[in-house]
Amino acid sequence: MGKQTISPGGAIEGSVELPGDKSISHRYAILAALAEGSSEIVNYATAADCRSTLDCLRELGAAIEAAPGRLRITGKGLDGLRQPRQTLDAGNSGSTMRMLAGVLAGQAFASSITGDESLRRRPMRRVIEPLRRMGAEIRGRDGDCAPLEIRGGHLHGMDYAPPVPSAQVKSAVLLAGLFAEGITTVRESIRTRDHTELALREFGAVVETAGGAISIQPRPKLVARQLQVPGDLSAAVFLIAAALILPNSSLTLHNVGLNPTRARVLDFLISIGGSLRIPSVKARDGELTGDVSVRQAPLAGGRIAGAQVAEMIDELPMLAALGPYTEQGIEIHDAQELRVKESDRIATLAGGLRLMGARVEEFPDGLRVEGRGAGKLRGATVDPQGDHRIAMALAVAALGAEGKTTIRGAECAGVSFPEFFETLKRLRED
Ligand code: S3P
Repeated sequence: MGKQTISPGGAIEGSVELPGDKSISHRYAILAALAEGSSEIVNYATAADCRSTLDCLRELGAAIEAAPGRLRITGKGLDGLRQPRQTLDAGNSGSTMRMLAGVLAGQAFASSITGDESLRRRPMRRVIEPLRRMGAEIRGRDGDCAPLEIRGGHLHGMDYAPPVPSAQVKSAVLLAGLFAEGITTVRESIRTRDHTELALREFGAVVETAGGAISIQPRPKLVARQLQVPGDLSAAVFLIAAALILPNSSLTLHNVGLNPTRARVLDFLISIGGSLRIPSVKARDGELTGDVSVRQAPLAGGRIAGAQVAEMIDELPMLAALGPYTEQGIEIHDAQELRVKESDRIATLAGGLRLMGARVEEFPDGLRVEGRGAGKLRGATVDPQGDHRIAMALAVAALGAEGKTTIRGAECAGVSFPEFFETLKRLRED
């Protein structure tokens, strides 16, 4: 695909069914591989990240058959994974590496896991440290980075309060807790997405939550399940943002995941004037889903900080890029985690938006993107640095600019939403 050129204007009209949620897909696949019997997962994510998880699970011995729209995974039971013959490759996926580190910590064999250049730069001490405390031998390059070398087994449960709010770290510890002696508890001071807790329960594990403490009982018998993955809300947000800024837009997104630990972004958009409607919400397999309807609306802008940040972490690039389409701009604080994502998202986004003429101030923990008063965006050639969410955020910002924008290396969108550019095109033509 290489570059993508976005012409501004038009309206977003029609309806769309989104690919399966990336976060939930990883978890269902991992737990299906640890369960006994054959699980069926409908609407498994098309994201390249979730393919990386499947590749690693195959290497660990799970049998996986893929048919369009569904996957069958025959699990090996808690003690049935085999030693990989080669280094596991998590590609660009932090979730794959961190969550599988938790599983590998519970295995009596030695293994190693690596990833692409971006993933090899990202911090792994946050999983190395707690998994060591549970009894695993685990080493990273320079103490903090992949490749990780892991020799597990003989874990003991522990009570752990992660220093950074991270669903991946919480999940790594809870997954290791499946193999530990005694109960494992993770204490969160800031709530993060709870898909792991919900999925563990679906597969038969005993997980209790009280306040911010999540406890897992060891050695459950995990049973194969038939599960349906909701549409990916984090992918939906790019299309929702496009519909909010393009005049005369009207879009319906079907079966979007609305888990309350993820849906805060919709509350935020409504709070700044976004015209969103969710007529009804259904529960399925422990998760919530519903249709979301959006119409173009004037946006006031606003500030995001504190506990909101963890619940909207993946949506912050898109929200920031909406800044020039709001009255007061968008300001984000307490989001230093954005600097250690697939790219330094604060710097990459600020750089791209500035090239398009936005007025942006960078802070160590966030950024401020000025509103409409700072002038209209203009088309430019921008480089998202291989970061999928920046590529899509800049593409949406380009829709309301003056002149064409070229996004370099736009194929990186496939890491989470391979259908993004095609879907955008279709919804603008309808
Ligand atoms: C994810 C957790 C978040 C998020 C990532 C997916 C998950 O990462 O940014 O895209 O599926 O658990 P952190 O755990 O690093 O906050």
